[in-house]
Amino acid sequence: MTIFDSVPAQASGETPAQAATGRPIPAVLGADLEVPVKGGRLVGYANLDYAASAPCLEPVSAAVAAALPAYSSVHRGAGYASQLTTARYEQARHTVRSFVGARPDDAVIFTRNTTDATNLLAGCLPAGTTAVVFDTEHHASLLPWKRSVRLAPPAFPGEAVRAADEALAGIDGPKLLVVTAASNVTGELWPIAALAHIAHRHGARILVDAAQLVPHRRLNLTALDLDYVAFSGHKLYAPFGAGVLVGRQDWLAEGEPYLKGGGAVRSVGDTAEWHDDPEPRHEAGTPNVLGAIALAAACDALTATGWTELVREEERLIARLRAGLASVEGVRELSLWGNDHPRVGIVSFTVVGHSAREVAELLSSEYGIGVRDGKFCAHPFVRHLLGTPDGGCEDDTASAVRASIGIGTTQEHVDRLVEALRDLASR
Ligand SMILES: Cc1ncc(COP(=O)(O)O)c(C=O)c1O
Repeated sequence: MTIFDSVPAQASGETPAQAATGRPIPAVLGADLEVPVKGGRLVGYANLDYAASAPCLEPVSAAVAAALPAYSSVHRGAGYASQLTTARYEQARHTVRSFVGARPDDAVIFTRNTTDATNLLAGCLPAGTTAVVFDTEHHASLLPWKRSVRLAPPAFPGEAVRAADEALAGIDGPKLLVVTAASNVTGELWPIAALAHIAHRHGARILVDAAQLVPHRRLNLTALDLDYVAFSGHKLYAPFGAGVLVGRQDWLAEGEPYLKGGGAVRSVGDTAEWHDDPEPRHEAGTPNVLGAIALAAACDALTATGWTELVREEERLIARLRAGLASVEGVRELSLWGNDHPRVGIVSFTVVGHSAREVAELLSSEYGIGVRDGKFCAHPFVRHLLGTPDGGCEDDTASAVRASIGIGTTQEHVDRLVEALRDLASR
């Protein structure tokens, strides 16, 4: 078996029993949203921008609505509503822990989002730690490190493992390999189990940016032997401002508290005595309780539906979309590892003769389709895929269009995008 063959199973770490539990796929809010297009007509909105922020799942909205009447302070109040809200917040932590298959002693720290989570970990690295990152990373995983070694985009997955192996071998002192599980530009899955194995062989740890994986595939941190994972609620159908960092306690227990204030301290005299437990240590102030409840409700809803059904429907739609794009003259899909490499429901492309901005604006104003255009906070990677030199942030020629799907995407949305592009490309 090669690294390629093993990517889908490795990316999930799921067992067949975990894969199928079988409730119907839940609905998203806004599925019937109508938007104006040129000429004043209203059309059903085709939201193909899930990788930026996914719509809210109905069970998530219901969980937040159910928690609101008893909403109260957490961790501080003796009143019944405070106790209930505290219990809900801590239950959310348990739910997230089991959603990612964390070890019993892993920390589960609620953050604002993935960027917040990677920055939190960056502030807790032992002195002198070197992070090893690929140029393919989203800026949230590329930039927070005080000291880093950057690796060129690998030509194939085995090359990623080889390059990480070589880089880690050349570093003395503590080291952290940082890698995304599913690219936010191409949707391609990375060989995270093989990379974890290599990291550990060199005494390094691995942080997996799972922002684009968890909305699409089950992740099992224990089975994959990952040290840390980070992801965002708003990409996981829970747009209430919470994200999470899950992983090994020791660095987090010793690191500088992320926020300094009430909740993070055990007692304060002339100096502060900080909590050793990572959760209170890094969650000072009143946390985003509703965000955590929403995130946990999304985890529950996806687990209850079962990944087999979710993945089957997504793969059907993304295959149709990619086949459609390939049939339009002048449309070029971006890919690091080729057409057949496994990926989640994300596809980026360019249209000959049209800037990405122009395409995105026309798709919105004429067809009621929402996509993202730009460099997707992954500037080095997009430039690499496009083969363009750095023209700066305003360089529109170094941009692409991204369509991304998820729960609530329909075949009509996909077909509308393909036909709209056929029309635009012929202008
Ligand atoms: C792979 C990846 N990592 C990190 C992030 C940052 O997520 P957030 O904006 O929620 O911090 C994103 C967002 O697009 C992403 O796609």
